[in-house]
Amino acid sequence: MVRKNQLPQFPNDYLNEKAEEYDSSKWMERNQKRSTILSIQYLFDEKLIGQDKFGIEMGDSFLLLDLGCGTGFSSEVLLENGFHVIGIDILLDMILKAREKRKSLKKRKKFEIILADINFLPIRTNIIDHIISISSYNFITHGNENFGVKAKLLGNTAAYLNEILKNRGRIIIEFYPKDDHELDIFTKSFTNNGFEGFMVKNNPKQKAGQTFLLLKKI
Ligand SMILES: C[S@@+](CC[C@H](N)C(=O)[O-])C[C@H]1O[C@@H](n2cnc3c(N)ncnc32)[C@H](O)[C@@H]1O
Repeated sequence: MVRKNQLPQFPNDYLNEKAEEYDSSKWMERNQKRSTILSIQYLFDEKLIGQDKFGIEMGDSFLLLDLGCGTGFSSEVLLENGFHVIGIDILLDMILKAREKRKSLKKRKKFEIILADINFLPIRTNIIDHIISISSYNFITHGNENFGVKAKLLGNTAAYLNEILKNRGRIIIEFYPKDDHELDIFTKSFTNNGFEGFMVKNNPKQKAGQTFLLLKKI
C-alpha cells in the first residue's frame, strides 16, 4: 500500500499489484498533478529565467523530458499544457500503465514513453528544451549507499542532463531528500556540472519534505 505520510519504498511500492494500486489512487493522482502544475510555474519563474528574454517563450514545439514518469500523471498535465513529452521510467509495470493511459489521451501523438534508467538515458545530445522530474529523483541512487559512489553517479547523471539540454534549457526537480546531507549532494551534483539555480521548500523549517530544485543550464 502506498502510504500517505510515509515515503514509498523503491521498487517494491511500484511493482505488480502495487503499480495498479498507485495508478488507481485518487489521492496520488491529485498529488502528482498538483506538484506538476507547480513545477510548470517554476519552469517559467522570473528569478530562474533572469535577463534571458527568450526564456519566457512557451509553445507547442517545446520538447520536455519527464524523468521517472511512472504511470503518467505528470506527463498528462505536461501534455495538457501544450508540451511534447518523452516519459522515462525504469519499471515496466509502471510504463505499461502509462502506455494504457496514453491510448485515451487527446494529445497522445505528442507523448513518447521509454523504458530506461535516468542514469543511462538513451537520448542524444542537445535536443531537449526542458526537464521535469516529480517524486522520482530520490530513487536514482537506489542500491548505492556509499557516499562517494552516490556522489559520482549523481554527478555523471547531471552532466549528461546538461548535454541533452539545448541552450537555455531548464530543469525542475521535485523530490524528498531525507536530510540536509542528501539535499546537499543532490544540489551539488547540478551546481558542479554546468547548472545554476536555487531551491524552494514549501515548509523551510522541515529538513526533509517536499523540495523543488529550480535549475538552468549555464
Ligand atoms: C512516484 S513514482 C512516479 C511519479 C510520476 N511523476 C507520476 O506521475 O506517476 C516514481 C517513479 O520513479 C521511477 N524511477 C525510480 N528510479 C528510476 C530510475 N533510475 N530511472 C527511471 N525511473 C526511475 C519509478 O519506477 C517510479 O515509477
